[in-house]
Amino acid sequence: MNRDRSLPAKAAITAVGSYVPEDILSNQDLAQMVDTNDEWIRSRTGIVERRIARNPEHATGYMAIQAAQSLLQKKNIDPTTIDVVLVATITPDYTVSPTAPYVATEIGAGGALAFDLQAACSGFLYGLSTASAMIASGLHQRVLLIGADKMSSIVDYSDRSTCIIFGDGAAAVLVEPSDNQWGYEGGVFGNNGIGSQLLNVPHGGSRQPFNADSYAAGQHYIQQEGRTVFKYAVNHMASSSLALLDRYNLTADQINYVLPHQANKRIIDATREAIGVEEEKVLTNIAHYGNTTAATIPLLLSDFEQQFSPGDRLILTAFGGGFTWGAAYITWNY
Ligand code: COA
Repeated sequence: MNRDRSLPAKAAITAVGSYVPEDILSNQDLAQMVDTNDEWIRSRTGIVERRIARNPEHATGYMAIQAAQSLLQKKNIDPTTIDVVLVATITPDYTVSPTAPYVATEIGAGGALAFDLQAACSGFLYGLSTASAMIASGLHQRVLLIGADKMSSIVDYSDRSTCIIFGDGAAAVLVEPSDNQWGYEGGVFGNNGIGSQLLNVPHGGSRQPFNADSYAAGQHYIQQEGRTVFKYAVNHMASSSLALLDRYNLTADQINYVLPHQANKRIIDATREAIGVEEEKVLTNIAHYGNTTAATIPLLLSDFEQQFSPGDRLILTAFGGGFTWGAAYITWNY
């Protein structure tokens, strides 16, 4: 690699891999479980089916390992050369004990700095910024960033307002110093702590420790004020994307692809309209996976990888619990 060592290294995504469980939970299946129907779910969310890891052995860590191994095998990468393993998740295998060290050990990266990052649906985007900064610092050379969530482990399948949205999945990217001029250009991020009251798992944290009453009341399941979250999501995915275009002097027609967090097709459509890009440039797979939280954007990268060419301009944008949000600009590396 030829670069001026006095300049920070530009980081780039150089490989992707993914894993989704085999089991499909369709809208028709959900209609047997709660008072809903296929037409309502499709028209209000764009979701047709989602994947569920039914095997109790297949927790978030297992899915993350599968995604990582698919990446390593595809590019024939020696896992001992990975010096950071970063798992973005809100559904770690254990509340206490990060999932990343387990994943790193299992894939053969026992020498890596391994930790979890919790930024809900923005987790992958925040992880990409973190990974890129680690590369730019010159202190790290190969960061394996994984977005993985077993949302079915915190979803109440008697609550029709949440159980229709979420699915399970994992996807991984390798972040390395770019060997050309393309890679991670930068991001615009934001937060608003009001989100902790509008979208959360109420009990089980230090604020409201778990007890028998909270269990009986279902306070260990994910809850949200859907309509309010919807408005925040549209507002901030759109405004951060527009701020990003402004910062990098980009017009909407210079963008090749937009990869939005897959929470609701109507959120994606409203964001697209605000940014002003054509529909065919906005990548979606929400119909088949639903909202897989930290896995949505890397799953898009994996599903559409063959479509990208070197130098393509990609905008990634997400919104999630916290609230957290942001948009990142990538020039595709390979
Ligand atoms: N099936 C049928 N009816 C349903 C339903 C379901 N699964 N869920 C809710 N409804 C009903 C409501 O009870 C309500 O009925 P009412 O008018 O008689 O009171 C009606 O549909 C409208 O409810 P509302 O909550 O306003 O629906 P919505 O259009 O906002 O869609 C969400 C609900 C959850 C799909 C939507 O708000 C959403 O996607 N929010 C963002 C969620 C999100 O992104 N979360 C993750 C953060 S990244």
